[in-house]
Amino acid sequence: MSLTMIQSLLEKRIGVSAEAIGPEVIAKAVRLRVAECGLADIKAYLNLVKMSEEEQGNLIEAVVVPETWFFRNKNSFSFLSNYVTGKWLTKHRGDRLRVLSVPCSTGEEPYSIIMALMDVGIGENRFHIDGVDISEAALGKAKAGIYTKGSFRGDDLAFRKRYFEPKGDAYQLNVGVRKKVRFIRGNLLDDRFFVDQEPYDIIFCRNLLIYLSSEAKGRVFEILDQLLVKSGILFLGHAERQAAIEWGFAGIPEFGVFACRKERRKRENRSNPAVHVQPQPCQRLFEKVGKRLRALPRSHPPVPTDEASQPEVLSELIDSGRSTEDQKDLFTEAQRLADQGSLLSALELCDTFLRENPVHVQAHFLMGLILEALDNEERAEEFFNKAIYLNPNHYESLNHLSFVVEDRGDKKRAAHLRRRAQRVSQRW
Ligand SMILES: C[S@@+](CC[C@H](N)C(=O)[O-])C[C@H]1O[C@@H](n2cnc3c(N)ncnc32)[C@H](O)[C@@H]1O
Repeated sequence: MSLTMIQSLLEKRIGVSAEAIGPEVIAKAVRLRVAECGLADIKAYLNLVKMSEEEQGNLIEAVVVPETWFFRNKNSFSFLSNYVTGKWLTKHRGDRLRVLSVPCSTGEEPYSIIMALMDVGIGENRFHIDGVDISEAALGKAKAGIYTKGSFRGDDLAFRKRYFEPKGDAYQLNVGVRKKVRFIRGNLLDDRFFVDQEPYDIIFCRNLLIYLSSEAKGRVFEILDQLLVKSGILFLGHAERQAAIEWGFAGIPEFGVFACRKERRKRENRSNPAVHVQPQPCQRLFEKVGKRLRALPRSHPPVPTDEASQPEVLSELIDSGRSTEDQKDLFTEAQRLADQGSLLSALELCDTFLRENPVHVQAHFLMGLILEALDNEERAEEFFNKAIYLNPNHYESLNHLSFVVEDRGDKKRAAHLRRRAQRVSQRW
């Protein structure tokens, strides 16, 4: 009876289900705590643990499973670096990628994220990483950054030479990597968990949900959903991904990678690009553009802008007769607008530029990027396809196209495009 009550207390505090973690794990932890507290039996321990926050913390420390190692499920880390270099960085020039590892246990997971990003040349000022765990003991080890052989598994340990110094039988992680993680103690099941945090682009929440009750899982998914930016990516353990999909995340169909994307609020819009490009708000501007371009065939309907502050700039550029220099300026201006986030204006200029420069590969690529940023992946695909038709070795288009086709479920083509991109990069 006392043991059942302790199990309920644990479930309430940290979501752990006795059935999922194994009743014997909890019974063993309780026996250990009874002995360490010098108590006569479990009943006496129940009285203590109900009253004492501190003892609840001790019990939690004895129950949790801190098992982890570097580059656990290596595919996830390759996918992460491909995604960040191939997609995120181009969409977020000048931004800092925000990553959360929860639970981070003794630190191997957040440190692997950093090594993966550094290995592909991402500067340390381009990302921020938080590592959160409920266990003070695990966090202490994480901060110390000294690891023994259990943390290094698998055949490919080349990273150890690059980032660690031998220290007796162990290895010390270099300080440059260590100082990049902000470790925080936190309970993911806490009602106020990270309520005031800025959202994250990427969250790793692996190998915790398997120990939780179904109610606690639902609560965790809600919290993770709130903590992720729109279209943010959630990495899970292999036995956890399905539960996330059933809850409402969108599975990312990548072999050996157990990840999901935060579902977009208005998912139905994706299959109907017109919803994103209502013509009414800037009809006047398009009439202006239309006069000059009337004679030219349009490859697709004009895309209006709702950025009321931009029309003068645009109409000036569009209405003037353009020399080659002006053309160059037009493209540069489209890039500048895209960079500063004025996507619809950028789209319009780029579209205008393309009418007079229909074989300009970079302009097709830029159109694809802008449309992708506007969540119009169907048309983004069209432009990336044109870019690689014009230049079959256009690395960035191959990369972006692979993500777009993957998003709509064509895993085979995505893999094919990635192989092509890889071949191109090997020639550099
Ligand atoms: C198996 S480790 C997972 C570590 C790492 N994510 C990985 O996959 O290798 C589980 C961790 O979850 C932590 N944990 C358990 N319940 C938690 C909770 N409610 N909030 C935060 N961390 C928790 C434990 O302290 C333990 O370090």
